[in-house]
Amino acid sequence: DASALQQHFDDTIASDQRIEPRDWMPDGYRKTLIRQIAQHAHSEIIGMQPEGNWITRAPSLRRKSILLAKVQDEAGHGLYLYSAAETLGADRADLTDQLISGKQKYSSIFNYPSLTFADVGVIGWLVDGAAICNQVPLCRSSFGPYGRAMIRVCKEESFHQRQGYELLMSMMRGTQAQRDMVQEAVDRWWWPALMMFGPPDDRSPNTEQSMQWKIKRHTNDELRQRFVDMSVPQAKALGVTFPDPALVWNAERGHHDFDEPDWSEFMAVIGGNGACNVERVANRRAAHEEGEWVRAAAVAFANRQREEAQS
Ligand code: 3HC
Repeated sequence: DASALQQHFDDTIASDQRIEPRDWMPDGYRKTLIRQIAQHAHSEIIGMQPEGNWITRAPSLRRKSILLAKVQDEAGHGLYLYSAAETLGADRADLTDQLISGKQKYSSIFNYPSLTFADVGVIGWLVDGAAICNQVPLCRSSFGPYGRAMIRVCKEESFHQRQGYELLMSMMRGTQAQRDMVQEAVDRWWWPALMMFGPPDDRSPNTEQSMQWKIKRHTNDELRQRFVDMSVPQAKALGVTFPDPALVWNAERGHHDFDEPDWSEFMAVIGGNGACNVERVANRRAAHEEGEWVRAAAVAFANRQREEAQS
């Protein structure tokens, strides 16, 4: 009966076991997982655009092939995550419609422009670095398919971060103009990277429930702090600074203090009013519409194969 099912669910979560697609789960658990996993998938797919912008203009064949591999990885991450959402009963075509119609979100970070090639390095270092901070705990998310998808994603994400950091190291050993280009990119991406972790915990409607269900294993502010603490020594080794005078080591706390991101900017960006929102969604809509013939051909081919198998 219902209370036995709820009890079994609660015991499974309490003992850090996985909930699998065929298990009974509260409607709210299913709903918030579809919400988070779908938006995570949308982020991966939209995230291909800022970097894709530089594939044809990479400064060397080596940089071009690395960037190609990374952008292809992001597409694969999107597919794993859409598949994980489908195990909860979501329909991939419907999720794409919700992205294109603005009903579902994708990560705020991809609504900023990638203006120079140093952005490719800073996106790898800081954006993929923040994504790793957020995604490593998700490997232990209570929903099986999501946690397992994250294990593969995290392995590829660490290549993304390392190639970005190595790219910046090369530029920092270059001319003063290249060093200035790196610092200018860091100044543009630092605050948006902190916003990736979501609003402060006291303004996060989903965190408390997601922590109780062990979908999330840390709060937004905990992961943001971890990312700041991890990034400061990396910036020092690189020879760049972060655009926050309040960013200092606090020995009592054992963490770095830092200023608040501009949450009004964050709300504007996730409300669709960032620098690139219209362009990113328009590109995704165009790609979807131009791909209609491929989907129709694949369905027709599958139907014919099924008919031949049955005849
Ligand atoms: N961008 C867009 N929307 C955001 C956001 C962000 N950075 N941070 C929060 N939001 C939205 C939430 O989706 C929620 O809106 P909704 O209820 O309509 O979904 C609202 O703001 C309130 O935020 P909450 O903190 O209450 O929401 P969550 O508990 O879902 O926490 C999250 C937000 C931390 C992003 C969480 O959803 C999460 O961990 N998601 C999985 C990780 C993810 O999506 N990462 C994307 C990074 S980009 C990426 O991975 C690509 C990589 O290859 C670079």
